[in-house]
Amino acid sequence: MTQKARLLSGDTSTGRLHLGHWVGSVENRVHMQDEYDCYFLIANIQALTTRLDRPKEVHDNVMQVMLDYLAVGIDPKKSTIFVQSELPALAELTVFFSLLVSYPRLMRNPTIKDEIRDKGLGDNYSVGFLLYPISQAADILAFRTEVVPVGEDQIPHLELTREIARRFNQVFCQVDAHIDDADYVKQGGLFPIPQVKLGRSRRLVGIGAPAEDGSLFKMSKSLNNAIFLSDDPDTIKKKVMAMYTDPHRLKATDKGKVENNPLWIFHETFNPDRTWVAEAEERYRNGAIGDVECKKRLIDVLVALIEPMRERRLLYENDLAEVQMILREGTAKANAEANQTLVSVKEAMKQRYF
Ligand code: TRP
Repeated sequence: MTQKARLLSGDTSTGRLHLGHWVGSVENRVHMQDEYDCYFLIANIQALTTRLDRPKEVHDNVMQVMLDYLAVGIDPKKSTIFVQSELPALAELTVFFSLLVSYPRLMRNPTIKDEIRDKGLGDNYSVGFLLYPISQAADILAFRTEVVPVGEDQIPHLELTREIARRFNQVFCQVDAHIDDADYVKQGGLFPIPQVKLGRSRRLVGIGAPAEDGSLFKMSKSLNNAIFLSDDPDTIKKKVMAMYTDPHRLKATDKGKVENNPLWIFHETFNPDRTWVAEAEERYRNGAIGDVECKKRLIDVLVALIEPMRERRLLYENDLAEVQMILREGTAKANAEANQTLVSVKEAMKQRYF
């Protein structure tokens, strides 16, 4: 019997999951459950790095993310779900790994820079905030993970994780620096070099109007432009009917624009009826089909995707004791695994005393 390769991914406990999470990563996770030994973490410490004023919210959102995971079809019989702060080994690994990363390297991370700008952190961010990419490397490497399904914004963190894995293997397991990433474990390294698995849509837009320069914002809870995987049909309907499209679509001179138009980005991303989408886009360009008809179609498509998730969520919402137990058991299993890796790390680093 060959062992399945490890897969790990996770989300910060900052709110419910939305369609952007689905196409960016969650859909892949659900579909890869049979092929891989899967671990999913709810990153509450990472959530706290920018929400120290709202600890209760971070706490309560752990359950919301957990419910979303179960709702979308992550199967606790196949996959392990756990809470980040309940694994002490992750904190210890973060400290050890931090020795392998130079300070300038840490600051050369575009996602960190974007976050400092977008969240208006100025220079008031904590050491813990800067450390979170290293802590994320610990999340991943603690399970000797081979595949990490994430959205595009996570690529810089994965690049750092890969560097840490290579350096650890070179410095403490005497692996030659010139070999292929795929050969590290074969050559005696402790950590495989994990690969990124990107979603089919790299950056889903929100349902709101574009920025002044015409570019569309990405879907995000904080921008209030999200459709959640737990929205009921009525909410989906209201959101889609109010969704931004091309304001010039009915002007005789300027017909409908399909490009950069959320209505069509959503149809292209979610509507399985490719023929209808192609034809309707053509008619839209010619001013021969209105927004309302196209929006009604989109409502049907999104309700068909989301309603089974919402129904499964309701079942679990009515049995929170069961959900709590799944999380507890997942966390116990993850702890055992991460603790084992920590022992191997200490051995490799010649720092095992007892
Ligand atoms: N940074 C991820 C996010 O913001 C969450 C996360 C924490 C994560 N640790 C991880 C993702 C490990 C993948 C692997 O969504």
